[in-house]
Amino acid sequence: MKLNIAVLPGDGVGPEVTAQAVKVLKAIAMEFGHLFTFNKAFVGASAIDKTGDPLPEETISICQNADAILFGAIGSAKYDMDPDAKVRPEQGLLRLRKSLDLYANIRPVIAYEDLLNKSSLKVKQIRDTNILIYRELTGGLYFGEKKLSNDNASDICEYSRFEIERIAHLAFKAAQTRKGKLTLVDKANALATSRLWRKVVKELASQYPNVELNFMYIDNAAMELIINPRQFDVILTENMFGDILSEEASVIVGSIGLLASASINDKYAMFEPIHGAYDKFANKGIANPIASILSAAMLLDHFGLDKEAALVRQAVDKSLKLHITTPDLNTKYDNITTTKVGDFIEDFINNPEETNLN
Ligand code: IPM
Repeated sequence: MKLNIAVLPGDGVGPEVTAQAVKVLKAIAMEFGHLFTFNKAFVGASAIDKTGDPLPEETISICQNADAILFGAIGSAKYDMDPDAKVRPEQGLLRLRKSLDLYANIRPVIAYEDLLNKSSLKVKQIRDTNILIYRELTGGLYFGEKKLSNDNASDICEYSRFEIERIAHLAFKAAQTRKGKLTLVDKANALATSRLWRKVVKELASQYPNVELNFMYIDNAAMELIINPRQFDVILTENMFGDILSEEASVIVGSIGLLASASINDKYAMFEPIHGAYDKFANKGIANPIASILSAAMLLDHFGLDKEAALVRQAVDKSLKLHITTPDLNTKYDNITTTKVGDFIEDFINNPEETNLN
């Protein structure tokens, strides 16, 4: 298969982790006889430094002409403490999501047996957790009209039936291929947008009679996710609730450096770790590349390259089993860098039978 992949490493640890994912994709292409080409583009703080714009025209056009986008991370401490900054790195990511209409953000949360003791939660609570979060990505508070003056500020939260229906269908269909359970997380006791979500999703449920639909308020869901994560199969939720819940879910898995995501619609697809840029950890070799590598596996899934994706996941499992992991997870070895994890996974793909710690 020929794939033209836009690579947007972004800021902070983004370039380091993305380089490992690209390495892994190159190994897969070699092993399975595919032709993957990679086109780099700037986004975020690094794009502001170069052009003054967090999402230059050239980057949009590279993305529009690609089959898929591999995204690193975005953000910079320089802008975090400046409420008056006119341009912010995050605008690059948000505008990219909006301009490509990447409305469905899919975030798997899987508790690895070998990492259960890395979580601060009890092993018996989290074992066998396997959740798929469908986060709406182009609506809600993030994109409503914004006002900010010295004494007043507002962010409008708006959702249309159309926006809710299109992601709800995807979430129902995903539930059909899994345990058949869908939980809509909202705040319908306080928010009008949440009441519309409930109404629309309830109406669609009759088209999916084999899916059990239930509803949970976001505050309750935040607690239930920690107390009893196994009760969830597919979670469907709006933009900001999904951002917060998925980051919370990383506690179950043991490190935010493990959580991957796909943002899709019928035409475009972007793959990115859920973690941020963490610029104070950049260029130290300590950033965990697994979320980025697993995002590459989701890219392979997206194009039906099932064997290829399975091999990447097998390589990741092996690295976790052998403790070839960065310091966020490791207690056994203290010299495993970002690149070493990528090298191990690359070697495994080249030679699955023989790869061991050496
Ligand atoms: C994420 C990030 C982004 C978001 C930020 C960088 C705007 O936290 O992808 O989860 O909130 O969507």
